[in-house]
Amino acid sequence: MDFALRARRLGKRYPKAPPNVYALSDVDLEVPHGVTFGLIGRNGAGKTTFVRIAATQLEHTSGDLEVLGLDVRTRAREIRPRIACIPQESRPLYFLTTEEVIYLNLKMRGTDAVEARRRTRDVLAELELEPYRKTLVSHLSGGLRRRALVAMVFASDAELLFLDEPTTGLDPLARRQVWDAIRHAIREHRTIVLTTHYLDEAEALSARLALIDKGRVMLSGTAEELRARMPYPYRVTIAGPIAAEALHPYGRVTRIEGGYLVFARESNARDLARWGLEHGYRLSLGPVSLEDIFLEIVGRPLVGLEEGEEEPVAP
Ligand SMILES: Nc1ncnc2c1ncn2[C@@H]1O[C@H](COP(=O)(O)OP(=O)(O)OP(=O)(O)O)[C@@H](O)[C@H]1O
Ligand SMILES: [Mg+2]
Repeated sequence: MDFALRARRLGKRYPKAPPNVYALSDVDLEVPHGVTFGLIGRNGAGKTTFVRIAATQLEHTSGDLEVLGLDVRTRAREIRPRIACIPQESRPLYFLTTEEVIYLNLKMRGTDAVEARRRTRDVLAELELEPYRKTLVSHLSGGLRRRALVAMVFASDAELLFLDEPTTGLDPLARRQVWDAIRHAIREHRTIVLTTHYLDEAEALSARLALIDKGRVMLSGTAEELRARMPYPYRVTIAGPIAAEALHPYGRVTRIEGGYLVFARESNARDLARWGLEHGYRLSLGPVSLEDIFLEIVGRPLVGLEEGEEEPVAP
């Protein structure tokens, strides 16, 4: 099978980094064609470094990376016309209007004028940027500027799009417009590499995900596969006059606002839900969220934890 991206033991050490500090270490990743691939991880995990290497903006220091079947080290010139990228903190050309930024980028990529005008018009409509068509990019708010950059990437005919935090700073409606644009791009059989700190977004959009921490891939696969790797794949929240001790046999108990969160195996989750319902307690039951997995793997305290976490007790 050929992949849109294929990294083998990819490593990156920045020249001025302290010895033995690697932004990426032994990264093995495969991104199939035509899907959205979500890259998640804490600040400094190495997401932007990965994106910049794959977008041929930065050189790796070890391992191999193929982009669209081509080695990034030797075939960057062939890769570039086939990819498009919004850098995480990019500054567009401020003396241009929103429309010009999109149109001129297409012209630079070699799109003919008629097609470039059509694509510009379509993307301005899709991301509801029409009212700002003639506004200088330098006069746009931060969120609108970001949308203009996202529009620039979607308007291109690139097969592989890199979206490094495309929705950071966007209002909830604008975020959803970007989501729709991502889904639209997937219907056009494009491939998207997405980084985001919004885990609901990562899960809603990504066919496959990778969680990286300190430059290493901790988990990768579909959201289901990630869940299946968790010792406790279910979460039950329960509220009522309950002593934590009563919950311990079911799984790992955490006190949260107004009640408890219990991570449990499937049969224990079911038993706990039945027990809770019999007692008339308020409860919810579902698979662990991507946020739960994230917090578990990168070793942060669990969601909503205000006081000390209860000791885990094997059910
Ligand atoms: N130009 C650079 N020179 C030296 N070190 C760098 C450079 N750019 C990034 N780093 C370091 O590399 C590591 C990974 O950074 P990177 O920007 O890839 O993280 P990230 O996952 O994108 O984080 P964020 O979520 O904050 O955007 C960090 O430790 C960072 O300090
Ligand atoms: Mg980053």
